[in-house]
Amino acid sequence: MRTLVRELKEKVGQEVTLYLTLEVLRDQKHLQFILGHDKSGTIQLVIPKSKVQNHEEIGQLLTGSTFIAQGLIVEAKQSKTFGLEMQVERIEIMSKSQAWPITEESSIDLRFDYRVVDLKSAKSQLMLKLRSAFEAGCREYLYSKEMTEIHTPKLMGTASESGSQVFRVEYFGSYAYLAQSNQFFKEAAVASGLEGVFEIAPVFRAEASHSTRHLTEFTGLDVEFAWCFEVHEVMKLEEEMLIHALSKLEPFVEKVKEIYGIELTTKPTVRYLSLDEAKDILKEKGFKLGKTQDLPDEGERILYEILGTDLIFVHDYPIAKRPFYHMWDRENGTTKSFDLIFKGIEITSGAIREHRLDVVSQQTLEKGVSLESVSYYLDNFKYGCAPHGGFGLGIERVIAKLLGLSSVKEASFMPRDPDRLTP
Ligand code: 4AD
Ligand code: MG
Repeated sequence: MRTLVRELKEKVGQEVTLYLTLEVLRDQKHLQFILGHDKSGTIQLVIPKSKVQNHEEIGQLLTGSTFIAQGLIVEAKQSKTFGLEMQVERIEIMSKSQAWPITEESSIDLRFDYRVVDLKSAKSQLMLKLRSAFEAGCREYLYSKEMTEIHTPKLMGTASESGSQVFRVEYFGSYAYLAQSNQFFKEAAVASGLEGVFEIAPVFRAEASHSTRHLTEFTGLDVEFAWCFEVHEVMKLEEEMLIHALSKLEPFVEKVKEIYGIELTTKPTVRYLSLDEAKDILKEKGFKLGKTQDLPDEGERILYEILGTDLIFVHDYPIAKRPFYHMWDRENGTTKSFDLIFKGIEITSGAIREHRLDVVSQQTLEKGVSLESVSYYLDNFKYGCAPHGGFGLGIERVIAKLLGLSSVKEASFMPRDPDRLTP
């Protein structure tokens, strides 16, 4: 039966079986020492060559090799592994690793070439676990709001929002498009009568951008819910979701400090601003933006530098900068929309949507989009639909900012960008 490393404190004086991965091996005249870990911790093993027959083969093992070890757990004051070690009686080798082609100091591109090795590092392991916990925290909050998790198609017959950033793939003698947004589908879910829905799923964007904030495939957390009327209701829901999810990261604080050397934000500060207010603040710093402009990336970063607030909700973007499906306020030339800036970078766009068929049709035409090209979208509103709103959040951007990563790519399991489709 398998014992985990974290259970060894109660096993002193007993024979146990451990399933381990090799970290380091030291080979001496009569003894071999191995540091090995499982998911719960690291333990030192002492292998007396006189007792263990396959010690020569063991002596050849490199970092990453996996094995099953049987032996006696003893107290060993000098051992760094909680004062315990195993006196090995038997080792059964499961997999022999080759020499690793990268170290943590290798270039980012080489690390991504060997991402399968890169993912073994303490940094990557922590990133993956933190990411999972963040998603779990968001889910937990959304379920508490009686929302339904859905899975929408990623293959589409027409481009999802704008045609420009869409990947086209061959589809039985014709073409399909990879979903660059689930906007149409999540609103269809609301129209169906589900009053709140969410999805955590891949989003594809054919952006030929080599920036630190863009992937060609990222993970979107999309939320849409009925019976909201003002953009503040959507922002409030997202604020609560993030406060909940980040508070759930408390158990990671120490490890993040140890491994990344930074203070993990589990209690973010929050501020709400209209876009005009944000522009006024930027103007004082000599950063001038016109009435119909939105915030460039640089503006988002500077706003964070000036205010120092983790989460900055900026609302009421101009009609000129927002799509046809947002609810417009013609009098003010604005839309009931927002962006959320987390530590200086946009992590979310959201809005109250236009649910009135005649109004959304008019807005479609004004944006120069033909009604035929969005006829399926308009069907959402033809047969009855509650007022609603929602948002889309990029998971990799949140994780990159939380851990101070150099790029969103480092927050992706296997990043996809214009130059990378493998591994
Ligand atoms: O701002 P975006 O394009 O908004 C939408 O897709 C809307 N349909 C969402 C809505 O409900 N109104 O994308 C949402 C978020 C961005 O704020 C950003 O965090 C992330 O998705 N994102 C990307 N992340 C990584 N790489 C890319 N290329 C991204 N493009 C957007
Ligand atoms: Mg956006």
